[in-house]
Amino acid sequence: MSDIAKRNAALKALEFVETGMKLGLGTGSTAAYFVKGLGERVRGGMAVWGVATSEATRALCDASGVPLIGHDAMDTLDLAVDGADEIDPAFNLIKGGGGALLREKIVAAAARRFIVIADGSKLVDRLGAFPLPIEVTPFAVPLTARKIAAALRDCGCADHVSLRLAGPSGKPFLTDGANHILDAACGRIHDPAALADALARIPGVVDHGLFLGMATCVIVGTAEGAHINQA
Ligand code: 5RP
Repeated sequence: MSDIAKRNAALKALEFVETGMKLGLGTGSTAAYFVKGLGERVRGGMAVWGVATSEATRALCDASGVPLIGHDAMDTLDLAVDGADEIDPAFNLIKGGGGALLREKIVAAAARRFIVIADGSKLVDRLGAFPLPIEVTPFAVPLTARKIAAALRDCGCADHVSLRLAGPSGKPFLTDGANHILDAACGRIHDPAALADALARIPGVVDHGLFLGMATCVIVGTAEGAHINQA
């Protein structure tokens, strides 16, 4: 059910794509349906160019025939489309479950429109049940983790912070930018803007998975189709 819903959300988002567009292409299982669908459009003659938010998405674009703009040549994009881990009623998001939050945020911020695609399980009344991914530089990670825990307490959140590992290897997960991820089990985030500000002030924090005020549209897939929710 969830995979059908993800696919239906992605297919609905394809309706917003027009020939000539430069597109930000997200990461994760829902975004992958979008990239594969885009590849079909390209093979059918649609001229679009993408910017991939991860090496996984870059590989999928290559396999699907979606032409890419190099990161250094990226400028304003017409549209970015990506999944999310949580979406609140104001379209604030938690992202980064796949570890790609930094490039995802750079790309979404470069786009005139940012469409989020998801199945209904991602909709929440308040952010925080999904552990908030925080990308940190690999230097002095335990110190950075303690500062993050203090910021979480100051913002009224639970303060359990854990280093993401790369599967059973026991080694830290490495992002595409060779950073580490700390996952913060916040519980409930009462004031996402205050927490985002507090995290951004900690040296060693590269970026965090709170995407606030960025999404312009949320498309929620169901087993039968998809609903478009505009900001
Ligand atoms: C990756 C992300 C993903 O968009 C998010 O984790 C949702 O993934 P999925 O579509 O597989 O449920 O933020 O960093």
